[in-house]
Amino acid sequence: MSTGNPRVLVLGGSGFVGRSVCEQLVREFGGAARITVPTRRLRAAQAVQSLPGLTVLQADLFDEAQLRALLAQQDAVINLVAILQGSEAAFQHVHVELPQRLAAACRASGVRRLIHVSALGVSDQAPSRYLRSKAHGEAALQTAAQMQGLDLTLLRPSVIFGQGDRFLNLFARLQTLFPLLPLAGAKARFQPVWVEDVAAAIVRCVVDGDTVGQTYELAGPQVASLAELVRLAGRCVGHSRPILPLPGPLAWLQAVALELLPGEPLMSRDNLASMQLPNVAGGQLPGLAELGIQAHAASAIVPTYLGSGLGLARLDRWRAGAGR
Ligand SMILES: NC(=O)c1ccc[n+]([C@@H]2O[C@H](COP(=O)([O-])OP(=O)(O)OC[C@H]3O[C@@H](n4cnc5c(N)ncnc54)[C@H](OP(=O)(O)O)[C@@H]3O)[C@@H](O)[C@H]2O)c1
Repeated sequence: MSTGNPRVLVLGGSGFVGRSVCEQLVREFGGAARITVPTRRLRAAQAVQSLPGLTVLQADLFDEAQLRALLAQQDAVINLVAILQGSEAAFQHVHVELPQRLAAACRASGVRRLIHVSALGVSDQAPSRYLRSKAHGEAALQTAAQMQGLDLTLLRPSVIFGQGDRFLNLFARLQTLFPLLPLAGAKARFQPVWVEDVAAAIVRCVVDGDTVGQTYELAGPQVASLAELVRLAGRCVGHSRPILPLPGPLAWLQAVALELLPGEPLMSRDNLASMQLPNVAGGQLPGLAELGIQAHAASAIVPTYLGSGLGLARLDRWRAGAGR
């Protein structure tokens, strides 16, 4: 896309990755990009609201008229909408039905450029609902790309770390609170990728037409087990606790128990199923290097945001509150 002040719709722009994407889009175009971020709750998008050239509005993406109105006059759309937990129906709704509706709305609105963020390890045969539904969403968009000439790029990140992540921040917090960490999936392997590298890849796709029709695997330079990542998080906050790897049946029971607690579970049976397969790049598809991005290692970046600044200040407030 060659325009100097592109109009970009960022679905899921209020989320963890979306915030970095919006910031980098603003930087890339010197504040000239016109970015729209729809959200279900305006409060969820507070972090991006003050960025120059950015409009946040409340919308229901599953309402055909609202989705079409959002797409009108856009040069590109980025889809970051996803859930990590939910029923089969919820995954189908968000990961398959929404991409289908998005493709149809793109056709109706004349928008061709779509950058869709999926996940590493997606497959029709994957062991988890999350990964299977993500595969079906990709397939729906690939079909639309063929049938209606959508300029589609698919991005498949491994687990993403960075300021405000829910992954390493959670394990850091748990080690601050408990003397021992019973850990399901301790040997599961990941190739964690920095949120700013993921955002840079997305922005690259916005500006570089050669990325159309491609699928990229976004992974960092280091492969690590879950236990190694948990130890890194613990070291960063000065509370490196012993890890007790849970064998399969106990891991399953822990997930069942966590699912029974109110709110989004820390670890569900579906998350456990995802970890049966290594979440590492296969090497057959292009990745960050082909997008001209040098991937940053978790070992270099995580200490910069865990253990200092806002993260710990929040944690201290939370602990003070919890101890009352
Ligand atoms: N984080 C990771 O480690 C990771 C790893 C691999 C792949 N990914 C993929 O990267 C993308 C971004 O992930 P993230 O970590 O940034 O996710 P996130 O922080 O949970 O953000 C998800 C976004 O989706 C929106 N959303 C969720 N359900 C929705 C619904 N029913 N209707 C409308 N909007 C809905 C939320 O918007 P509102 O709440 O504002 O409405 C939010 O902005 C996703 O596709 C995810 O699968 C993430």
